[in-house]
Amino acid sequence: MLKGKSFLKLLDFTTEELQYLLDLSKKLKADKKNGTEKKMMSGKNIALIFEKTSTRTRCAFEVGAYDQGANVTYIGPSVSQIGDKESMEDTAKVLGRFYDGIEYRGYGQELVETLAEHSSVPVWNGLTTEFHPTQVLADFLTILEKKGTLKGIKFAYLGDGKNNMASSLMIGAAKFGMDFTIVAPKEYFPDKELAETALKLAEENGGRISFTDDRIGGVKDADIVYTDVWVSMGESYDVWEERIDRLSYYQVNSELIKHAKDDYLFMHCLPAFHDLNTKVAKEIEKKYGIKEMEVTDEVFRSKNSVVFDEAENRMHTIKAVMVATLGDGEYPL
Ligand code: CP
Ligand code: NVA
Repeated sequence: MLKGKSFLKLLDFTTEELQYLLDLSKKLKADKKNGTEKKMMSGKNIALIFEKTSTRTRCAFEVGAYDQGANVTYIGPSVSQIGDKESMEDTAKVLGRFYDGIEYRGYGQELVETLAEHSSVPVWNGLTTEFHPTQVLADFLTILEKKGTLKGIKFAYLGDGKNNMASSLMIGAAKFGMDFTIVAPKEYFPDKELAETALKLAEENGGRISFTDDRIGGVKDADIVYTDVWVSMGESYDVWEERIDRLSYYQVNSELIKHAKDDYLFMHCLPAFHDLNTKVAKEIEKKYGIKEMEVTDEVFRSKNSVVFDEAENRMHTIKAVMVATLGDGEYPL
């Protein structure tokens, strides 16, 4: 169904195709746990380009590839010629002759699109400034596991409504007919053109997309409360002050979460600023005097939090994307 296709953004896929990837993820997860996983990528070679750092995405691609019999080459930030001495077009032409599939994490979406255009092998977006589509598959698999459906799920996303997670979740939610709200100050609402696309898709799929700066109204009766970092990779540290000033009001904490449904799920793509045990969080605390950011430690560690299920599902869903686009034949569902 998806053989030879790249996975660059959710907008390129129909709801049926995305549903297929979720079904395949579920099957691959069950087969791995039962010890009955079939290898569909024996002997394939995969390049993993990371122009930004990563824990989950890199490890998900590596473990997913190894489980399926493929080999990987990790090309980390600033170790290759990419960008500095060689264009993405030339890089694509070279790597396309060596590898059967290429993952790319980095900056502008146009870079991953160029890689796909010129490499003639499937290219997978492991995060760009604009989109993080594989994360959405993991998040939606997690919701399916916990809630049994995506359609009609009331989903509140709080914080930076312009970043790659907000944009990707909004498009994914629209495709699956969810009731999705961005809860943020107005200047952090998504890009107008993308919002219009999402509104149209939601209408076609019987869902709803809305935007509000009312944090309590936005979270009211939510099934899912999702947040992400206030400053994304690649952004200047100079923006911290403004983000803290504008987004602190939208922190997911025990007071706010009382307005969600009793059985709400707290979700976050990770890494999260929920305590002070990291170098960057300590620097932020020293400079701005705040101890917790987008989510409190209490909510992060609560029984409603499914953040580590999401993290595990990165591997099963990324494996599904590779198997669907690069595997030998169709994986038996
Ligand atoms: N969620 C996510 O993409 O994590 P990494 O940055 O660790 O890959
Ligand atoms: N918005 C975050 C997501 C990290 C997985 C970032 O781009 O840094």
